[in-house]
Order: sequence, then structure tokens, then C-alpha cells
Amino acid sequence: MEIVTIIYFDKPNLKPLSLLMDFDEYRTRGKIMIDYIADYLETIRERRVYPNVHPGYLRNLTPDCAPVEPESWDHIMDDVENIIMPGITHWQSPQMHAYFPALNSFPSLLGDMLADAINCLGFTWASSPACTELEILVMNWLGKMIGLPEAFLHTHNESKGGGVIQTTSSEATFVCLLAARTQAIRRIQETNPELEDVEINSRLVAYCSDQAHSSVEKAGLIGLVKMRFIESDDSLSLRGAQVMEAIAIDKKQNLIPFFLCATLGTTGACAFDKLEELGPICHAEDMWFHVDAAYAGTAFICPEFRHWLSGVAYADSIAFNPSKWMMVHFDCTAMWVKNSECLHRTFNVDPLYLQHENSGLAIDYMHWQIPLSKRFRALKLWFVIRCFGIKGLQKHIRAGVQLANKFELLVLNDKRFEIPAARHLGLVVFRLRGENHLTERLLKRLNSKGRIHCVPASLKGKYVIRFTVTSQYTTISDITRDWAEIKATATEIINDDKANSTYNKSKVSLADNFESRSKANVELKLRHSECCFDII
Ligand SMILES: Cc1ncc(COP(=O)(O)O)c(C=O)c1O
Repeated sequence: MEIVTIIYFDKPNLKPLSLLMDFDEYRTRGKIMIDYIADYLETIRERRVYPNVHPGYLRNLTPDCAPVEPESWDHIMDDVENIIMPGITHWQSPQMHAYFPALNSFPSLLGDMLADAINCLGFTWASSPACTELEILVMNWLGKMIGLPEAFLHTHNESKGGGVIQTTSSEATFVCLLAARTQAIRRIQETNPELEDVEINSRLVAYCSDQAHSSVEKAGLIGLVKMRFIESDDSLSLRGAQVMEAIAIDKKQNLIPFFLCATLGTTGACAFDKLEELGPICHAEDMWFHVDAAYAGTAFICPEFRHWLSGVAYADSIAFNPSKWMMVHFDCTAMWVKNSECLHRTFNVDPLYLQHENSGLAIDYMHWQIPLSKRFRALKLWFVIRCFGIKGLQKHIRAGVQLANKFELLVLNDKRFEIPAARHLGLVVFRLRGENHLTERLLKRLNSKGRIHCVPASLKGKYVIRFTVTSQYTTISDITRDWAEIKATATEIINDDKANSTYNKSKVSLADNFESRSKANVELKLRHSECCFDII
């Protein structure tokens, strides 16, 4: 007969229990972890911002299989410092200037620690009422904080407008595109009931600018709709006249314009599309008007930056990422719609096990998003808003903008450089005057030194380095130190170039590669190899 050993984990002093983390040990380890995190963030300047590792580096340092026996906590933490940290890009570092910010803050970290401990799933109101109700509350607060029209808020039980926290801006754009698709198909079928969904779907066409983020292109790809990338003007803004022209051409071809995504704060250069021109066109053409303000949205907490929001009253939906600049750590995308019924129609499923006695009376966020489950993300947002207050958040944003302004002045003072697109908010784009390969080599050299980290963009054929002020701990001396690093490296590059004027003629340069594949101009993901960065 087989003997089965049953281990009672709740009985004290049995061997397995002593190897697991109990309440006392959690208290001890937790406090040490808090110290580790505080030390990490406090001394982050001492670390190389971009790691010096090669693909597969971790595989050589770790066992192939999971441990059979429990391992000691100390051993795991040693590995964190010895093998994980050397492969980290330190996004919280003041020397991190790549992409857009992805900041955290102590209120955010602590609020989320609590959310993780509660670990409720807020798919319906009943699955955890406070989870849904706090999300409604903070999304109303946030909507008011950035000056959204009341139509986007959830002000009473019958409100059609309201906010929801999505995982990312990519997901928000996709969710809105799907809602727009459902709405367009229904509208067309009202007058053409014989048309099948797929038939209408194949004629749908969406619009964005050539500066829109690649996530807009992706939304079109997976939504199986055509996407037109319309050329932006000299200020890199999407303008009404160009959109009208494209719509007229498409309608002649029996296509159905149904969705336009405008960007406030483009990834390449933080340019702003003209909502006031685009909104009336969408309105007249029965098109869903979505606004992607992933990065710039946080700035609208300051009234002086809200002029870019002018025309938002025409929008059907708008989203931005508190998980970028607002010091609410990833993930947290705030998305508002004017008519949540469009989301319901798109995402509504209603199995018995998800029904509750307040179904229909309260918001069930599962109808506003793709996944069923949702984390209690409202808690960290609530902690951040309450701990900083609107004034504290405004101070943080203005400080970032001022530092970017300081960096811009430093660049303008050196005649070897140019700034080919206006600086907006915390992003400065700059390049060495002359051919693209100089700036391309400057960026490669800077990143391989690892003391600052930036990524490129291509703006109307010009290869530029994007310099974003990210961390809330960045000081003027960080900026002057980083500029000194850039200037010294530029001198090296220019001297090398003089010494070897035939540099790289036989190779296809990174900039050329980039040009050939940068239809949307904004793919900024980099792969690091020993001495160069390749766009992937
Ligand atoms: C304008 C814009 N939209 C969308 C995104 C994608 O954001 P997410 O990673 O939240 O999907 C970005 C990323 O930086 C962005 O700059």
C-alpha cells in the first residue's frame, strides 16, 4: 500500500513550515526590503544607468531548473544584487533620458503594496465594491484635475460618461477602436441591414498622424481595419485639411471612415495635434474621436498647459498614463469615455456566475475592458493624489519642464548642435548639425558609456536624440553634468569623423535602416549589443 505523507503547514515546528516565510519573518524581511528599496533609490546615481550585458547573460548565471528544495531568503536577495541589478536599466535614475518617464514614488509603492496584499479582483462591483467605487472616485478627481469637460465624468448613477483604469495606453487605444468599430457597424446596419459585420469591417478606415505611436498602428492591425498615417505639418501636428482630404479620397473608394486618433504629446518630439480642427471633422463624419495623451496628459494638471486640450469637448475618449510622469508606477492608464454604453455593447458578456444583485445598478468594469479581472490600481492613484495634492503634482511637473528648458538653453549655446523641433514640456530633441550619421554615432557612444541613456527618433528624415527629463530627483547639476558628458562625447565623435572621413561608407548605417522602416517615425525600442544599438 502506498503511504501518503500529509504536511500540515499550520502546525508549528514542522520542518517545511520553518523553511517558509511566516508572519514574523514577513515583518522582518519586509522592513529590510523597504530599506533595500530606499537605499536603491537614494543611491541610484552611483549605478550605471544602462547595463553592460549581452543577450542571454542571465542564462549563464542561473540554474536551468527551478529549485526542488526551498532556498534561503538571503541567498535570493544576494542574487538580486549580484545577477539581477547588473542587467537593469535604471528607469528611476536622473540620468535616464530615454523614452518617456516611468516614475514611481513612495506613496505609489506603498499604496500598491497594500493593493497587492488585498489582491481583490474588481471585475464587477460585487467582486469588491471598494475597488470599483474608488476607481470611479479617483477617475472623477483626475478628470477634474486635468480640466476635462463634465461629460467625461461619472457624476450620478445614470451618467454615461466616466473613467476607467486600463493597463496601458496601447490597450486604451485598442479598446476605443473596438468600441468605434462596433458603433460604426451598428450604424451602417441600421440603413443596410443586409450587410454582414465582416463586410462592413473590411470597408472601415481609421486615421492618425505619421507621428502617432506605433500602438495606434497595432490597434488597427489587430482590429483588422485599415489605418491611414496622415502627414503632419511643419510643427509635426496633424491638421484638419489633410484629414479632410484623406477622408474624401477614401469615401470615393467606398470606404467608411470610422475612427481618428489624435495625439497630445507625440513620442518623437512631443508635438500636439490640433483637436479644434479635428474634432468638428469627426463630428460631421460620425467618426469616433480618440485622444492619446499618454505622456503629456499629466501636464494638464497645470492650467498653463491646458491650451493643448482645447477642442477635447469633441472627443469620444481620451487617455493618459499617470504611470509615466505622475509618479504612479506602472501599470496605470487613465481613460475616459463620454458614452460608456459603447464599451458595454462591445465587451458585454453576462454569465450567471458574474451576475449579482446590483447588476445594472453599479458599474461593472469588466464591461469597460478586454480582460475580465482587474487589479486594485485605484489605490496607488488615490495615495499619490492625496499625498502630493494637486499643488505637489503641479510643482513636480513645472520642475521637470524648467529643467528641460535649462537643457534646451545649454544645447542652443553650442553652435555644433541644433534643435530641429520645438521643445514642449520635458522633452528636448537635438542633433549634431550635418549628416545623420554623426548624431547616430554620438548616441551610440553615449549609450555604450552607460552614464546617460537616450533613444533616437526620426523627424522628417532627421535623426535626433530625444532627451527627456524623467526623475523627480533630477537637479540642475544632473542636467549640467549630463550636458558636459554629451559635449565631450560630441567632441570625440567630431574628431574621429575628421580623422576618418570615410567612416562607415561601406555599411548600411543605423540611420538608413531606421529611415527605411520608420513609417510611423516613432519606434524607439533598442537592442543593445557590445558597441552599438540596433533599432528593432
Ligand atoms: C503618445 C504615446 N502613445 C502611446 C504610448 C504607449 O504607451 P503604453 O506603453 O502605455 O501602451 C506611448 C509610449 O510612450 C506614447 O508615447
